[in-house]
Amino acid sequence: MNLFVRKPINRIVQESEDVQHTLKKTLGPKSLIALGIGAIIGAGIFSLTGIAAAENAGPAVVLSFVVAAIACTFAGMCYSELASMIPVAGSAYTYAYATMGEFIAWVIGWDLVLEYAVASSVVAVSWSRYVVAFLKDFGISLPAQFTACPYDPTPGIVNVPAMLIIVGVSILLILGIKESANVNAVIVVIKVAVVLTFICVGLHFIKPGNYHPFIPPNTGTFGEYGLSGIMRAAGIIFFAYIGFDSVSTAAQESRKPSRDIPIGILGSLFICTILYLLFAFVLTGMVNYKDMRGDAAPVATAIGLTPYPWLKMVITFGAIMGLTSVVLVMLLGQSRVFYSMSRDGLLPSIFSEIHPKFHTPWKSNLIFMVMVGLGAGFLPISQLGHMTSIGTLMAFIIVCAGVIVLRYAQPNAPRPYRTPWVPLFPLLGIVVCFSMMYSLNTQTWLRLIVWLIIGMVVYFSYSRFHSRLNKL
Ligand code: ALA
Repeated sequence: MNLFVRKPINRIVQESEDVQHTLKKTLGPKSLIALGIGAIIGAGIFSLTGIAAAENAGPAVVLSFVVAAIACTFAGMCYSELASMIPVAGSAYTYAYATMGEFIAWVIGWDLVLEYAVASSVVAVSWSRYVVAFLKDFGISLPAQFTACPYDPTPGIVNVPAMLIIVGVSILLILGIKESANVNAVIVVIKVAVVLTFICVGLHFIKPGNYHPFIPPNTGTFGEYGLSGIMRAAGIIFFAYIGFDSVSTAAQESRKPSRDIPIGILGSLFICTILYLLFAFVLTGMVNYKDMRGDAAPVATAIGLTPYPWLKMVITFGAIMGLTSVVLVMLLGQSRVFYSMSRDGLLPSIFSEIHPKFHTPWKSNLIFMVMVGLGAGFLPISQLGHMTSIGTLMAFIIVCAGVIVLRYAQPNAPRPYRTPWVPLFPLLGIVVCFSMMYSLNTQTWLRLIVWLIIGMVVYFSYSRFHSRLNKL
């Protein structure tokens, strides 16, 4: 039983073609950039920016966005290299299986639950905050105890709207609604329009006093303002960039993966970085950072300070639409990863059982509907967001390491896209990602460790004995 058995790249491509032979190669660079933006802009910018400014960085949260963007750029290049070498509708899990073997692939697949499933809960909570704000503008107040969880700053019993969006999207996924490039394009236009409108209108309502002090002095506690606060906020708002890796999953549908996947990944990252920097600058200029503590709908709050109440409704509605599409992409990503792991024998077959009529992994969708729905209903957005960030940072580190490993292990394999300056760039990616992980709090680290220990137990008691590759 070899823990480090690698799945040959040609076999991965072959299997994937068998399953997905109907996929058409229709996506060009523009659609791929749109796909990335559709998955990227969501709860991170609409909800976590204000909280990270209030609790960790103050107005210097703008610098936190720069740090996170640097990490994502290095990781994005590494994703591009692997996606062009292994152009399948896979994910970091598949790349790890080809480069570092079964055990690491397992770790990353397990870890990706934090990126996809837990992120879905975060986005659902953000969605519920915007829905509450939107309905309030129409004079409808939902009972507070049913729109907040017991651990929120203003505690409630359960967050019902957050659970409902998870149920709704899961049903859509079971019925076979996939991200279609056209629907995605419309949602992307709405999202970018919301962000741009916020920036353009908000610029006129900035109070320069809100930028002083730009970097509030550290309180004496690591992560509360000062340099450590900027780094901790970077680890938190890193969440806002998650999703660009979904471009790599469209490698098989792209016309020229070697050229278009890197353009899709790096292009969507670049556009989002510019939007995020401006957004964070305007938000912290409009609302004093201290007033955003626990506010998961800061855009609604900020626009509420302007004399344009109608604009608040439009922007809030746009945010709700945009958040819905992110939940869809994340839950879809989750079912795809577990589908692949289940087909490889690393997880029970229930995760790859396909519905005879809808042709979707419906049982998997139902299981995640319950788990993610419970998370969204009963857990606070900030803790969930930290978990997603730490898990995804770990996945990025493994992907960066994978590029280095593969350059030595298979130096002559065709690489349609090559990350520049290997091993320097992947190493820098690892260093920046790790420094953000390091800055996250002890509780978040403990939760990650507990999650990984549970993963080890499942691997050594189930997966190792059912692995298809080891039986060949
Ligand atoms: N980047 C995505 C968001 O911010 C996950 O919602």
